[in-house]
Amino acid sequence: MKAVICCYSSHHGNTGKVVQAMADESGADIIDISAVKQADLSEYDIIGFASGIYAFQFGPQALDFLRKNLPQNKKVFFVYTYGAAKGSGSKGIAQTAMEKNAQILGEFSCKGYTTYGPFKLIGGLSKGHPNEADIQAARSFIHSIIQNS
Ligand SMILES: Cc1cc2nc3c(=O)[nH]c(=O)nc-3n(C[C@H](O)[C@H](O)[C@H](O)COP(=O)(O)O)c2cc1C
Repeated sequence: MKAVICCYSSHHGNTGKVVQAMADESGADIIDISAVKQADLSEYDIIGFASGIYAFQFGPQALDFLRKNLPQNKKVFFVYTYGAAKGSGSKGIAQTAMEKNAQILGEFSCKGYTTYGPFKLIGGLSKGHPNEADIQAARSFIHSIIQNS
């Protein structure tokens, strides 16, 4: 079972930390989509898309990457971190994945430290996240995704 997680994590690397823990747990590859725009995902059985929440949604970079690179009929999952309000979460990207007949296995989300906008003035929000409990939950999530697929 070959897995990859395509990750966009531009603010504090919060999503990247979660994704790294998932990769360590499962042996999944990671593609940093801030650096890589095109990839052949056909060899993977399970494909994750991960992003921070920016303006109440998944990063458009992750959506673009999925649109360009996700083959038809793949098993996918979503991962995101958010400062306070997840907004639409993975709804938009899941919709785009379904247009490629993807089977959605699940999603994982947790809080992530933010200093965005006015939150900077109060020392940031969700300090310390992702914390050890978040990382442990991320490990359990990837474990069950791989076991059940
Ligand atoms: C431009 C920008 C917009 C953001 N918008 C939201 C938002 O709408 N809701 C929220 O809860 N957090 C928001 N955040 C905070 C991030 O979702 C949070 O810090 C996340 O963990 C960032 O992930 P990253 O470090 O992997 O980029 C925003 C952060 C930035 C930089």
